[in-house]
Amino acid sequence: MSTYLLVSRSSEYEARLRTLLGSRLGVVTGEFLSFGADAVLDLVTETPRIALLGPVLNFEETRELTRGLVERYPDIGLIVVREQRADLEDWVDELSLHAVLSPVASDDTTRDLLDRLAGWLVTHGRAESSDFDDPEPDVVAEPEPEAESDAEAAVAAEAPLGPLPFADGASRNGHEPDEAAILATAAAEPEPEPVPAQPEWLFPPLDPSVRSEALAVIAPKGGQGKSTIAINLAAGLAPYAPNSVVLVDGDLQFGDITVALALEPTHTIVDAVAPEAVADELVLKTTFTHHPAGFFVVASAPSPELGDEIQPYSLGALIDRLRGIFRYVIVDTTPGLGEHTLSVLEHVTDAVVVSNMAVASLRAVRSELTLLTTLGLMPVNRHMVLNFSDRMAGLTVKDAASIIGTPIDVEVPRSSAVVLASNRGRPLLHDDPRDHAARALQELIARVAREDIPKRSRTPRRRRILEPQ
Ligand SMILES: Nc1ncnc2c1ncn2[C@@H]1O[C@H](COP(=O)(O)OP(=O)(O)O)[C@@H](O)[C@H]1O
Ligand SMILES: [Mg+2]
Repeated sequence: MSTYLLVSRSSEYEARLRTLLGSRLGVVTGEFLSFGADAVLDLVTETPRIALLGPVLNFEETRELTRGLVERYPDIGLIVVREQRADLEDWVDELSLHAVLSPVASDDTTRDLLDRLAGWLVTHGRAESSDFDDPEPDVVAEPEPEAESDAEAAVAAEAPLGPLPFADGASRNGHEPDEAAILATAAAEPEPEPVPAQPEWLFPPLDPSVRSEALAVIAPKGGQGKSTIAINLAAGLAPYAPNSVVLVDGDLQFGDITVALALEPTHTIVDAVAPEAVADELVLKTTFTHHPAGFFVVASAPSPELGDEIQPYSLGALIDRLRGIFRYVIVDTTPGLGEHTLSVLEHVTDAVVVSNMAVASLRAVRSELTLLTTLGLMPVNRHMVLNFSDRMAGLTVKDAASIIGTPIDVEVPRSSAVVLASNRGRPLLHDDPRDHAARALQELIARVAREDIPKRSRTPRRRRILEPQ
C-alpha cells in the first residue's frame, strides 16, 4: 500500500522517511527524471494520497512532477521538501503545493505535517481516513535516527504557518481555489538585526572608478566554491559580452572546470603558454575551448606534473594577452597564495575572495588579505563572497565580516542545486536560475558588470489614457 510517494535524489532522506512511514511509502528515485516527469510517474502503480517531492530536485523538475501528479491524481496532497526559504515564494506561487517541508525538520515535525495534510484531505473529501491507516504501527515507534537541537525543533513547531500560501483563495495553475496550505520548515525567520554603526574596515571595499576586466577567484583553502563561482561568473557575464569572456582554469594541479562544464578540450593551458602560442595570437586562439553559452575556456593542465611546469610569470603573461582579446578574463586559482596565484593577482583588476562560514576559513581569509596588502598585491577591486551561508552555522554574516575585517559583498547560500548543476555539467545559472544561490551569484555578476548592464530607462511610464495630460 503506497499512500505516500517520494520522488527524491537523496537516499539519506529516503531512508529517514522509510523509517517514519514503513511500507506506506512508495519511492521513485530522482535518477529516473532524466527520462522526464512522465517516466517517473509511469512507475507509480498505486494511487498515492500525498506526494513528497525532493530534496535535490530543481524547479523545472518539481513543476513537471506537480503538473503530472495533479493531472493523474487530482485529489493528491503535494509537499515539496526543500532546504531553504529565500525563493520559496516563487515556488509556492507557481506550483500547486500544499506544503513545504524542510529536509532537516525533525521526525515529529514531519509526522505532524503529514498528519495535518492527511486530515485536510479527508475533511475535503479527497481521501478516506482509512487510506492513511498504518498496517505496521511498530515501525513508526522506532527512535528518531538523527538528533536536532531542541531550539530548532521548537522553532519548527511554532513558526510554520504564517499567512498560508493558498489561503487567499486564488486559483493556482488550475488547482482548486480553496486549497489550504501548510508551511513547515525548520528554518527560523532571521531576527531583525540592529543597525550597526559604520565599522572601520581593515580592507576597504571596491573602487567604483576602476572598470572590471580581469578577475581572479581566490581562497586560502580548497572546497570553498571558487570553481563554482568562476564558472557562474563566466556564464553570467557572457550575455553582456557575448564570446568576449574567457574562463582560465588556473588551478594548475587539480583544475576541474571542463569536467564541471562537460567540455572536452582538445588543447589546454599548457598549449596556451607554449612558445608557439606566445609568438602567434592565432595559435593562442586555437587553444580555447568554446562553451555553447557564448564564452571560452582555457582548460587546466592534463596532469598535475604538466601543470607544475608552467612558470608563474607565464601565467601572468597569459592573462595580459587574454585581456587584449576579451572583455572579461576570469581566472580560477589554486587554493592559497602560491607563486602562481600571486602572479595571477599581479595581472588582474579584481579579486573575488571566497570563504565558507567556518571560523578557520574566515581567519585564513583575513591573513590572506593582510599578506596581499603587505605585498602590495591586492587588486584594486575586491568582492568578498560568503559561500555556503547558512542560518544554522552559529555565526551571522556580521560576525563573518568582522572576523575578516571587510564587508561581505555577496552572500551565496548553501544549496543542493549547486552540486546538482555541477554533476550535470551545467552552470547553476543555466540549470536552475531561480535557485536562491543562482540569484546571489547574479548579484555578484551585477557588481562586476556594472558598466555593461544597461541602466534602467528613465523614460516615464506611459500615462493612463484617462489621466489629464
Ligand atoms: N553554495 C553552495 N551550496 C552547496 N554546494 C556548494 C556551494 N558552493 C559550492 N558547492 C559545492 O562544494 C564543492 C566545492 O566547490 P568548488 O567550487 O569545487 O570549490 P573550490 O574550487 O574552492 O575547491 C563542489 O562540490 C560544489 O558543487
Ligand atoms: Mg576548484
